[in-house]
Amino acid sequence: MSELTTDRLLLRQWTDADYEPFAALNADPVVMEHFPAPVTREASDALIERVKPLIAAGGFGLWAVEVRETGRFIGFTGLSVPSFEAHFMPAVEIGWRLAKDAWGKGYATEAALASLAFGFGPAGLDEIVSFTATTNVPSQRVMQRIGMTHDEAGDFNHPRLEPGHRLERHVLYRITRVQWEARG
Ligand SMILES: CC(C)(COP(=O)(O)OP(=O)(O)OC[C@H]1O[C@@H](n2cnc3c(N)ncnc32)[C@H](O)[C@@H]1OP(=O)(O)O)[C@@H](O)C(=O)NCCC(=O)NCCS
Repeated sequence: MSELTTDRLLLRQWTDADYEPFAALNADPVVMEHFPAPVTREASDALIERVKPLIAAGGFGLWAVEVRETGRFIGFTGLSVPSFEAHFMPAVEIGWRLAKDAWGKGYATEAALASLAFGFGPAGLDEIVSFTATTNVPSQRVMQRIGMTHDEAGDFNHPRLEPGHRLERHVLYRITRVQWEARG
């Protein structure tokens, strides 16, 4: 099983106790502002079921994030393979989603750096991408803080959103193994 520890956080396998708080943050319209719609309880549970086997197998995944000091579950951060076709596929993406009261503490950045270290370390990846709606500035700031570069020519219209949707346009960020190793 893959598990990552940082100064303040534990990135771990999901437990039964995570389902309810994860559904709650997925139902929070503020957390889901840059998504087409809040995620239903059923879809929230299904996401957990989908990612558990990858973590159990010791590979990369969307890890449940826990604050070590309190043991509190605050959301997920990690690596996954996008489930849609795009010009940058095949690719592995890095992503994060935290409960609102866990924002503004540097947790997403801290968890993302550990995820990149796993991706370029044990997982042996050569490049990791990230993308989000152009409106999602907080998420882009995490991408910038962890050393990713905006590939402006790579920005794209998300194929799962109908043309003209307010969230259709997406930015694409990238980081290569060489860039990661040169970070110092
Ligand atoms: C994207 C998201 C995780 C970003 O959260 P965030 O709190 O802005 O990012 P971080 O956890 O890295 O925290 C950084 C902030 O904490 C501050 N901070 C406070 N204490 C800190 C510490 N000890 N260390 C580092 N940063 C600290 C930083 O200054 C920064 O604040 P700023 O943005 O005002 O400069 C959050 O907005 C979210 O979950 N959104 C909903 C889901 C989503 O949109 N996901 C992405 C979809 S693609």
